Amino acid sequence: MSTIRDVAKLAGVSVSTVSRYLNKSGYVNSETEQTIKYAIDKLKYAPNQVARGLAGKKTNTIALILPDISNLFFSDLARAVEDVAATYGYTVIFGNSDDQAVKEKRYIETLKQKYIDGIIFASNTLGHDDAEMLTKLGIPFVCLDRGPSEENSSIVRSKNKEGAIMAVQHLLDVGCRKIAHIYGPQHLITAKERLIGYEQSVQILDWYSPTLIEPGDFRIAGGMKATDRLLERHPDIDGIFAGNDLMAIGALKALHRKGIPVGRQVAVCGFDGIQTTEITVPELTTIAQPIYDMGALISRLLIKKIEGKLEEDRLYELDVKLIVRDSTFRRQGTNEQA
Ligand code: RIB
Repeated sequence: MSTIRDVAKLAGVSVSTVSRYLNKSGYVNSETEQTIKYAIDKLKYAPNQVARGLAGKKTNTIALILPDISNLFFSDLARAVEDVAATYGYTVIFGNSDDQAVKEKRYIETLKQKYIDGIIFASNTLGHDDAEMLTKLGIPFVCLDRGPSEENSSIVRSKNKEGAIMAVQHLLDVGCRKIAHIYGPQHLITAKERLIGYEQSVQILDWYSPTLIEPGDFRIAGGMKATDRLLERHPDIDGIFAGNDLMAIGALKALHRKGIPVGRQVAVCGFDGIQTTEITVPELTTIAQPIYDMGALISRLLIKKIEGKLEEDRLYELDVKLIVRDSTFRRQGTNEQA
């Protein structure tokens, strides 16, 4: 099996030049690039030897790139990833990308230098060129939740569209007859699929209007503002499905500020199943994602991939669950302020 030294020898350059070419981590003139490329093709040099050659031994370390660990959805995911990785003898390092490609690229550059064994992307900013470069370098990666659909990666996410349909059906079942939706950022596949599920459920109903949907930012403040705008347009809405729990909590706050009884007058349903939903007033009905199972599965898949035991990369979509609480209990005739 050819080595990086064989490539350097055939190309008539130093090992560090070949390494710079493969890592894109420094200048290599085009003529030298051509000779290196020729030598790699001639020797059928398996790209994934590079990482091992440069990295020496495995480091038993994986990285998890998250959008924002301050959102309990992601901290719960991170907990599961770390618990399972530890059972296989791996440590985990975390990074927040804030869904910014430039931050993600910076992490990838740093992780390459630290000879990380593999990376889990839960952020949606992994570019195709970065994915290609990681594959070329033989650094295994997998995608989680809002991570992109890359052909060289397994992906774990929830059944987002089905969950949205469950949320709307529950609101209809408790008697709602004009349901609004606060949707998350549409460049995220999770938010997009939930909006599709909402629209598929309501567009045939006579009260439906496209003005019943309002953008949020997956944060509490965005949920509050969206609820205010929806109520200005439609003071008679009696149900709100929010695309994640933080925006649903924002909706609870906005309704409370207006003195609107949650449940009796406007029922509210969220999506994620973070622990905070158990302590809101009223407690929040939500579509719970199997957060811990998602984190545990992606961790196992990456470690299998690192150890060469993963047969194939594919999409894993996990079931979600409706958790009914007081925010959708349509109590009638009582005076208590929900
Ligand atoms: O609350 C954060 C949201 O972003 C979750 O719904 C999760 O699915 C992620 O996409």
